[in-house]
Amino acid sequence: MKTPEAVCQVLDHALVHHKIARLRAETTPPSEFKTLLEDLSILLFYEATRRLPTSNCVVKTPLMEAEGQKLKQAVLLVPVLRAGLGMSNGISRVFPEALVGMIGMYRDHNTLIPVDYYLRLPDRLSDKSVFLLDPMLATGGSAISAIDKLKNRGAASITMLAIISAPEGIAALHKAHPDAAVFTAAKDKQLNESGYILPGLGDAGDRYFGV
Ligand code: PRP
Ligand code: URA
Repeated sequence: MKTPEAVCQVLDHALVHHKIARLRAETTPPSEFKTLLEDLSILLFYEATRRLPTSNCVVKTPLMEAEGQKLKQAVLLVPVLRAGLGMSNGISRVFPEALVGMIGMYRDHNTLIPVDYYLRLPDRLSDKSVFLLDPMLATGGSAISAIDKLKNRGAASITMLAIISAPEGIAALHKAHPDAAVFTAAKDKQLNESGYILPGLGDAGDRYFGV
């Protein structure tokens, strides 16, 4: 069986490092935070889709036929509300044909256990490449619960994209769902006693939406 490190790919790219540093800074205003979170989501999606299965196709240019490739499966983005919406907003700009489902949940502040409040997914997920989007992978509770829901609908290809991940969350997610791949832009040090990622960026939803 693969180790958590093997299934979790941490992006190592100068542009990603630059944008993550700006995203973390408490002086970064909400307008810039939005753009940075969306940009980083696009960069994560770009890397995570590198090896999606394709089939050959032929298209006609205005001049002649050209050989090409098309994705074999539909892509489904599933943001975890609220902050995941920022990620689907960004990715949809570069890949507007992606379908978008949604999972609404928030962490109870005392127990840190996710509380469900919304679910909208296509009926059949077995024939789709599913990307679960949440900027913060902290204890892993939200991601594990979200992937449970995706698997209940038959999802077989699940990749989680997280901007910042804690080692605790990566390990918990891998233990619960060893078949789910994870791409993250930063693996941080640890969680604090309130379940926040250190050094992290604070509350992603509050910073993206301003409330
Ligand atoms: C944040 C974040 C994740 C969750 C991660 O959402 O966007 O969904 O916490 O924590 P976990 O890995 O410990 O489950 P939050 O619950 O703050 O909801 P919000 O986006 O509505 O503010
Ligand atoms: N959710 C956040 O928004 N930030 C954290 O650090 C942990 C969970």
